[in-house]
Amino acid sequence: MSQLLENTITITPLDAPIGAEITGVDLSQEQSPAVMKMIDDAYNKYNLLLFRKQQLTPQQHIRFGASLGPLEIHVLKRYLLKDYPEILLISNILREDGDFLGLPDAGQTWHTDTSYRQKPSRGSILYAHEIPRDENHKAIGDTLFASTAAAYDDLSPELKERLHGKKAIHRYSLRKRPSDSKREKLTKAQLDETPDIAHPVVRTHPHTGRKALYVFEGECIGIEGMPEEEGAQIISDLTQHIISPKYIYRHNWSEGDVIMWDNAASLHLAICDYKLPQRRLLHRVTIEGGVPF
Ligand code: SIN
Repeated sequence: MSQLLENTITITPLDAPIGAEITGVDLSQEQSPAVMKMIDDAYNKYNLLLFRKQQLTPQQHIRFGASLGPLEIHVLKRYLLKDYPEILLISNILREDGDFLGLPDAGQTWHTDTSYRQKPSRGSILYAHEIPRDENHKAIGDTLFASTAAAYDDLSPELKERLHGKKAIHRYSLRKRPSDSKREKLTKAQLDETPDIAHPVVRTHPHTGRKALYVFEGECIGIEGMPEEEGAQIISDLTQHIISPKYIYRHNWSEGDVIMWDNAASLHLAICDYKLPQRRLLHRVTIEGGVPF
């Protein structure tokens, strides 16, 4: 059911365990405080928002992101948009010098953004510039989003009790990359910037109070105070649970789509089922978050 606001704005939950589509908002314009509050509330409630048919300049993208919180500058500086360091380019397109225009393999394994930081980002706002198409002109290069809140809700009371108060250790260098990833190894400076960090296995949404799982294989090396094997088994079991199809929304992109997701309640995965000359280019801004609790 759609909720009608300010005559023309609608918020319609997606047919999925996460997300809502908002129509009637032109993100290139400065929004009134009432509309910004409506977007912010919907973001916290649905944990993923979709806006279609947008046309944003880098300044407009940054302005919209900054109205939801301070923006982060990504550690991989070579893929930041020239003159707009708040924008991370995600792209498989090659520049004239042979390097990629953007980060070519962003998000190609399940993850939640910057969980290796003391204050992981609140979420990102991804804007689709170019989307690859298959031979039938169908858009490919989808992104999957899993609701870690819905996955938590379905745990047994016994498992919830067992996880209560536990913390998992997140490690940046553990992150898996696709086997053909062209990314360079992390430098010592980048590793020094990202020491191991413990976060609650079950985190509480800072705005709604809803609980969500915050532990994942490929991000967490163990659970504090638990024998290594037991911790590893729990992390593996919870991972398989979170990414079961019933918790997933799959987004099939069109140019002009804007999606913002909430790292306090979701994981995401970019599907790499395309290659040049099929081109993919998205612009991303990332909003700072608080310390998970
Ligand atoms: C990301 O994880 O930020 C990238 C997602 C995508 O490219 O679809």
